[in-house]
Amino acid sequence: MSGYKQEVNIVTRGRRKIAVIGAGNVGATCAFVLAQMKIADIVLLDIYEGFAKGKALDMSQNANVLNYDGSITGTADYNDIAGAAVVVVTSGFPRQPGMTREDLIGKNADIVSQVGTGIKEHAPDAVVIVVTNPLDLMTYHMQQVTGFPTERVIGQAGVLDSARMAHFIALELGCAEEDVSPMVLGGHGDTMVPLPRYTTVGGIPITQLMSQERIDAISARTASGGGEIVKLLERGSAFYAPGSAAAIMAESVLNDRKRLIPASCFLTGQYGLDDVYIGVPCILGSNGVERIFELELTDDELSSLQGSGEFYKKQLVDVLGY
Ligand code: LAC
Repeated sequence: MSGYKQEVNIVTRGRRKIAVIGAGNVGATCAFVLAQMKIADIVLLDIYEGFAKGKALDMSQNANVLNYDGSITGTADYNDIAGAAVVVVTSGFPRQPGMTREDLIGKNADIVSQVGTGIKEHAPDAVVIVVTNPLDLMTYHMQQVTGFPTERVIGQAGVLDSARMAHFIALELGCAEEDVSPMVLGGHGDTMVPLPRYTTVGGIPITQLMSQERIDAISARTASGGGEIVKLLERGSAFYAPGSAAAIMAESVLNDRKRLIPASCFLTGQYGLDDVYIGVPCILGSNGVERIFELELTDDELSSLQGSGEFYKKQLVDVLGY
């Protein structure tokens, strides 16, 4: 049995660290995608210790098969996230059929309060990527709980919503997924704002590649993309694409890739909105949100984005008491 290792790669190698909070479907998927990127040691934290440890061990035992490196550790102890450059927060209840994301607000706000307190204490320099729903509200709440600079608290939604739009476009045109450059702004909910004018395939705006009727249908399917999956699954919500989207954002921060993607950012007047988190195009690097872009929008596009922002501002006041 020489050479056999019961737990693979448990040695700390002094590598960079990413913590994923919540070992449920989204958190575990995110950790699994990150493991295959081979960019950092991964700490998977959950209040249910065995759940986190079991998934981490399962992923560790897969290292030989998929040839990844570094450690994947499961824990319930926030001490273990110390030194993490990026913390991805996936904890919280998922939607069930018939629920909107906003129906999760009370329960998940309490969870974000607990998680945020742990991050503030143990990983005070981390960039935090929030995935918990209702996304834009929980990202705002996380920033308030941690007190971190707003550029270091970001919400994952735009990558997911854009990826959904890209998939529907690729299906429609019969083209490669990777040639689609989608752009979806606004809140991660019914008010999201797909932007066909800024969505291209091989550099060509989709407005030149398909009819307005098909674009409208794709935009509508994108906006209800999460709900479509909740309905199919009958219990719980999507996780492969949400978990992977969060991993892509974590990688851009960790490796200072400066990817230009839509994400939920704190606005200070851009698009006529302030003191709210909402999806806008930004550059993500080691400092978190390094730049927010203000696109030229038509009156209709701008009013949709502002409507989305105002909807969440009202929820922040009415439901979360901000
Ligand atoms: C979705 C959930 C995760 O959009 O918000 O699938």
